[in-house]
Amino acid sequence: MMETRVIRAWGDEERDRSLMEEAGRLIREGELVAIPTETVYGLAGDALNPASAKKIYEAKGRPSDNPLIVHIAELDSLGSITREIPEKAEILIREFWPGPLTLIFKKSSAVPRETTGGLDTVAVRMPVNRIAAEFIRASGGYIAAPSANASGRPSCTTAEHVYEDMKGKIPLIIDGGEVGIGLESTIVDLSGDRPCLLRPGYISLNRLMEKIGEVDTDPSIEGVMDENAHPKAPGMKYKHYAPKGELYIVKGDPDRVRERINSLCLEGTKKGLRTAVLSSDETVNDYRADIVRSLGSRQDEESIARNLFKVLRDMDDEGADLIYTEEFNTADMGMAIMNRLIRAAGHRIIEC
Ligand code: TXA
Ligand code: MG
Repeated sequence: MMETRVIRAWGDEERDRSLMEEAGRLIREGELVAIPTETVYGLAGDALNPASAKKIYEAKGRPSDNPLIVHIAELDSLGSITREIPEKAEILIREFWPGPLTLIFKKSSAVPRETTGGLDTVAVRMPVNRIAAEFIRASGGYIAAPSANASGRPSCTTAEHVYEDMKGKIPLIIDGGEVGIGLESTIVDLSGDRPCLLRPGYISLNRLMEKIGEVDTDPSIEGVMDENAHPKAPGMKYKHYAPKGELYIVKGDPDRVRERINSLCLEGTKKGLRTAVLSSDETVNDYRADIVRSLGSRQDEESIARNLFKVLRDMDDEGADLIYTEEFNTADMGMAIMNRLIRAAGHRIIEC
């Protein structure tokens, strides 16, 4: 089994520089390196090397028809991997890059189909995280990077989470501390006639529409999915984020939600199951269960987004069998938070 080193990349400039040089060399040799970004940790490989894409799919245990996002560090890099840059893309780029927004373009022949999962389009993102940007520059400028979790598990918001999932599979994890946002980037498809939101994230639909007018939303986002659905972002069709225990979203009037969750937990306890509740700071004292965890304050939706994946991972460590969560339909990030929760819950929703 390969040794996986975890190296901290902050504080010491000279050490950081030699770390980036080493990481860049690994990428050029076709190896993989896990890196921090502002959204979640990424599992990076050379986006222009078909063999690297294959390695990424292998390390994640991910189906190879699920395309990878190409990460760049300079705007000048965009031209050579795309066939055209529509005007609306230019507007979004000016407003939101570098940052947590991924745009889909028609791809140029420079991008191998292994990277795009066989598609004729390419997803591109320019992270704002300093370590990510330096790493991309040191690695030749075009980095394919899915979230660094093993396929199906919650995305990683710390280097420790990456180590849990990638130990023995990759040579190097660059530790940049806990990420700032905690949910993956917003994805907008600009390769067709009308802009379409494929995955909600930190940059909300409203903010996008303020800049470019109408934006469609892919039906899979709302969580309505069946066997025959073909979401435009292939990754949205896969089971994702799910803890080992059974997770249910309980929604409705807050008082009724509290009563319902407490009585469901009591039933679970009687069956000998270990119960857990995901609440908010405002309601954390209202529940009786083996484990009660707050995701954050409803006054601070960014805290909820930042904690979500970590708390879902903790549920496995805690051995939770039955997990009930409140709904988090907050103003800006609610759509992104609920999109992840609905998939983590395998669409199990209790209305009361
Ligand atoms: O914040 C993020 O975007 C993180 C960090 C590491 O940058 N990356 C990330 O990558 O979330 P990943 O691979 O876990 O999710 C990429 C999503 C998948 O659902 C995939 O199907 C979709 O983007 N995607 C990639 N290329 C696409 C394309 N050409 N057309 C449609 N969807 C695409
Ligand atoms: Mg992912």
